Amino acid sequence: MTTKNIYILGIESSCDDTSASVICNNKILSNITANQEVHAKYGGVVPELASRAHQQNIVPVVQQALEVAKINKNDLDAIAFTRGPGLMGSLLVGTSFAKSLALGLDIPLIDVNHMQAHILAHFIEDGSKIPPFPFICLTISGGHTQLIKISNYFEMEILGETIDDAVGEAFDKSAKILGLPYPGGPLIDKYAQNGNPKAFKFTQPKVGDLEFSFSGLKTQILYFIQKQIKENPNFITENLNDICASIQYTIIEILMTKLKNAVKQTGIKHIAIAGGVSANSEIRKRLQLAEKNWKWTTYIPDFKYTTDNAGMIAIAGYLKYLQNDFSDISISATARLKVTE
Ligand code: KG4
Ligand code: ZN
Repeated sequence: MTTKNIYILGIESSCDDTSASVICNNKILSNITANQEVHAKYGGVVPELASRAHQQNIVPVVQQALEVAKINKNDLDAIAFTRGPGLMGSLLVGTSFAKSLALGLDIPLIDVNHMQAHILAHFIEDGSKIPPFPFICLTISGGHTQLIKISNYFEMEILGETIDDAVGEAFDKSAKILGLPYPGGPLIDKYAQNGNPKAFKFTQPKVGDLEFSFSGLKTQILYFIQKQIKENPNFITENLNDICASIQYTIIEILMTKLKNAVKQTGIKHIAIAGGVSANSEIRKRLQLAEKNWKWTTYIPDFKYTTDNAGMIAIAGYLKYLQNDFSDISISATARLKVTE
């Protein structure tokens, strides 16, 4: 018996990356992303500019994804798109495009929850190990910080989450205090490589065992920097590496403590990370160490599947396709959507 290959086009436009990917079953054939440089000078994503840039990018990005995958749009079996959560104006561009294309090609449309997709990226077949059910995923991005128990592809339970800022925001806002451009997370990671993580000490928040809080840390860093600058106006430039290493160390310590609590409470030792912050070199290192020291099995996504990308939308679409879970053409984008919805 020959089984038919399923080709799905995934489209991601929830924030400031316009991305398209073609997947054949669970293997990625192409994953093209146009980043929007336009936001850097504003210190954050400007929603109106984001949706305008998506409109400009979406056709060339989809075209390139098809070209790289070497397939014709008529060979597609379904179109998967990010329905939410995200910026409404941005989501609308991807949603309308996906709907029109599915309608024009007369193929099924599949709506994808962006937060589920970050996690489901672990099921892309790219040579790395694939987590067995149940596993725990720490989703760490610019908008979310959640500990999730995954019992099946679409069976997820939130064990704990942030009560205020997301961890990506903690990185980006700290970077802003240091005068670094947006998004500052990768820059903190870069400068931290040459710094002493114990140079400056910040206290950890006191919240529930599986809860996170980052807004207090941000204020602590702000007051600390203001005080130091009063004494030495060149404090930041003279100590940038040490400051970044200390901030990063504090944030990663918080994440590792919460993961340990989750393992203790659930007895599950299969631990995955997902979302933009999982590109951070320190969390990757610490999870590798946890395999040796604590006998966890850890699942660390390839860099290209950590930040927002359409490959994760395509794999989520494929997993839904297998369950015949299709969307009606009247479906609309939604800015708010829980990982469990
Ligand atoms: O998942 P993502 O691309 O978008 C959201 O859905 O939010 O995550 C973006 C976040 C940003 O806050 C960015 O600063 C952070 O991921 N980030 C990092 C690193 N790379 C990206 N944070 C720390 N270290 C990194 N290497
Ligand atoms: Zn994301």
